[in-house]
Amino acid sequence: MVLAYLFAQLTLWARGMPGGLLVLGSANVDESLRGYLTKYDCSSADINPIGGISKTDLKNFIQYCLENFQLTALRSIMSAPPTAELEPLVDGQVAQTDEADMGMTYAELSIYGKLRKIAKAGPYSMFCKLINMWKEICTPREVASKVKHFFRMYSVNRHKMTTLTPSYHAENYSPDDNRFDLRPFLYNTSWSWQFRCIDKQVSKLEKKEGISVVEDVD
Ligand SMILES: *[C@@H]1O[C@H](CO)[C@@H](O)[C@H](O)[C@H]1NC(C)=O
Repeated sequence: MVLAYLFAQLTLWARGMPGGLLVLGSANVDESLRGYLTKYDCSSADINPIGGISKTDLKNFIQYCLENFQLTALRSIMSAPPTAELEPLVDGQVAQTDEADMGMTYAELSIYGKLRKIAKAGPYSMFCKLINMWKEICTPREVASKVKHFFRMYSVNRHKMTTLTPSYHAENYSPDDNRFDLRPFLYNTSWSWQFRCIDKQVSKLEKKEGISVVEDVD
């Protein structure tokens, strides 16, 4: 961040021109929700043009530009795996990917973000909605573990959202706290009441389905 601001000032000065440049940031909604960003580092800038747009929507937009404006240079951007590029390459290939690091996919994050903001869902109501939405692809126990993981990371990292770079407000799932979200930003990350409700519901559903499972030890 410091280097970016330094160059924003020096670029014009070095050319004998007055004024300074604004620094643009590029964190997206999903990373912000999950807290997968370094505070006051590459996430910090003056304006973030894509800060209010989820990765899924951004990709759809790039695909649209590729097809309608023949911007073929965008093809390699579309096919590049999202990565923070912090770890060295292995055999010339990217070894670190965002989705593996985050423990969730961008597609999942996009859904969590909409349920959190638009449907105003907390852990238990998000779980109840997702066991229906994902009934073909996940067992209730899998949904429970995904929802818990998201809310744990969300609450641990929520302090980061209060200092997000201002962004263009594009969608009603925007994570921008400063203007649109007046909820508390410090949470007890054990979510004991909510997670207990989820666990109770999982056992009830498994009993109903007649699934016998080995008790989770953690
Ligand atoms: C968070 O919740 C747990 C479980 O209910 C409790 O033991 C702990 O004291 C709480 N922490 C704080 C800081 O309130």
